[in-house]
Amino acid sequence: MLKGKSLLEPMDFTTEELEELFLLSDEIIEAPERYAKVCEGKLLATLFYEPSTRTRFSFEAAMLRLGGQVIGFSEPNSSSVSKGESISDTIRTVACYADMAVMRHPKEGAPKVAAACTDMPVVNAGDGGHQHPTQTLTDLLTIRREKGGFENITVGLCGDLKFGRTVHSLIKALSRYRNVSFIMISPDELKIPDYVRKEVLIKNNIPFEETGNMQEALPKLDVLYMTRVQRERFFNEEDYVRLKDRYILDGSKMKLAKDDMMVLHPLPRVNEIAIEVDSDPRALYFKQAQYGMYVRMALIMGLLGIKG
Ligand code: NCD
Repeated sequence: MLKGKSLLEPMDFTTEELEELFLLSDEIIEAPERYAKVCEGKLLATLFYEPSTRTRFSFEAAMLRLGGQVIGFSEPNSSSVSKGESISDTIRTVACYADMAVMRHPKEGAPKVAAACTDMPVVNAGDGGHQHPTQTLTDLLTIRREKGGFENITVGLCGDLKFGRTVHSLIKALSRYRNVSFIMISPDELKIPDYVRKEVLIKNNIPFEETGNMQEALPKLDVLYMTRVQRERFFNEEDYVRLKDRYILDGSKMKLAKDDMMVLHPLPRVNEIAIEVDSDPRALYFKQAQYGMYVRMALIMGLLGIKG
């Protein structure tokens, strides 16, 4: 039962609860018109303290497509945040008006602080370089629909594995399925954080390799998860410039990959996937963005306790 829960990090939901969400997502994709009014009278608040396109729009589109309504800000300077209001006061106020809130914040743990101050469900839409559990729902639904499941797969994660919160959440979530292994492709400076390596991978005996060589890894992968180098989390521009174009997936590299390898990317992309790859049937990142809306429709229904 998801009703009333908050989603702050991927492990907040059991694999059974995830399966429930994916089954509901399948039904929504099958017949979206059946769900067009289920959230009538409900209000979603989107509190975005950091830029976003897909996450905010897909949450808003999801609520509107369920017949509910949306309030919020996408620019904290347009709200009392700019006057110095605390997260706890903002969320307590929002809870007087809305039925649930979605929050993105540059500080790690901020959505958790918000959730502790209210009974209303709070969803973490990305907290600093930490976690991004609804992107993970999107990624998992895409893998499940396009590959049939999560077991027996080798997943390559490429790019900024240090600051990329989508990577941290995806590794956590996939660590619960049978026979999943990872190949982490990154420069030395952008390797996965120690807490992910130790607390998730080593602790659960999950096979993983760390490499700097994309070409060598490519033929082994069932899924390639590309990521953007997270410029906004760097301490200096020089390091960013040095590292930003280290891995670029292009047509010639795609020739090294399996015929059915999926290419995923949470987006936005900068340079890390050449435009020519978009027309390759294995490039699924825009489809992934669309699945993101459907899985968020299912999530909103679940957290508000609305049956289909
Ligand atoms: C990601 C994020 O915000 O962490 N984007 C998203 O939500 N789809 C990835 C990124 O910004 O690189």
